[in-house]
Amino acid sequence: MRVPVIAGNWKMNPTSASEATSLALAVRDAADGLAGVTAVICPPTIWLSDVQRAVGAGRVHLGAQTMAADERGAFTGETSPLMLRGLAEFVIIGHSERRQYDGETDESVGRKVASAVAHGLRPIAAVGERAEERRSGATSHVIDRQVRAALAGLERLAGTGLVVAYEPVWAIGTGDAASGPDAQAVAVQIRAILAEIDPEAADEIPIQYGGSCTPENAAAYFAQPDIDGALVGGASLKADAFAAILHAAVDAPRHA
Ligand code: 13P
Repeated sequence: MRVPVIAGNWKMNPTSASEATSLALAVRDAADGLAGVTAVICPPTIWLSDVQRAVGAGRVHLGAQTMAADERGAFTGETSPLMLRGLAEFVIIGHSERRQYDGETDESVGRKVASAVAHGLRPIAAVGERAEERRSGATSHVIDRQVRAALAGLERLAGTGLVVAYEPVWAIGTGDAASGPDAQAVAVQIRAILAEIDPEAADEIPIQYGGSCTPENAAAYFAQPDIDGALVGGASLKADAFAAILHAAVDAPRHA
């Protein structure tokens, strides 16, 4: 049975350590006592230490929003996987905002996913088509290319801790969320690619939906047999809303 993974991607919010720790504590309190869901928060890298100190070890897992593939060297502004070890358990790789604004490519996403795994971090590999790609009927082509590239550096999936997030770009921050069945169709495609790479492990990998996921629509995704959680942006900045999404995951049927 796959345990749903609900990850809050805080993006470039909040803007002070005290707000970040307050939000993290509120999420920790909301997640306390919840079984059957993995709750993850991904604060800005600069707040990871503060948040870790505040929440301690417990029901809330920490993730980073990106990282460099390399361990050290002349990479101005970057964060090495060695620096994240002990601070973050998860790391989002290939978010569409990094692809759009920071030159992340299919190739760099593949290198980073492999590096995360090599350093004991659980990658949340994010894929998704843009609005014009969807309009032109290219969704399945884009997903195929992005998923294969993201996983190109992995010889097997078992034991990697991999999570895949399907985040259609047109749904991010727009309120125009994908329908449950549409997200399920893409999740099925993703799982089929996972099965080509590692037939034994494909059914163990959580596949998340992301893009305007809210307490109101979350259950519609979690009811889908191949969707095991969500990557949440805006709603993860409100502890109540994030808690409601965690509860929706707990109440949803388990998928195998
Ligand atoms: P929203 O939930 O704000 O649409 O953002 C989704 C996202 O990009 C999570 O990574």
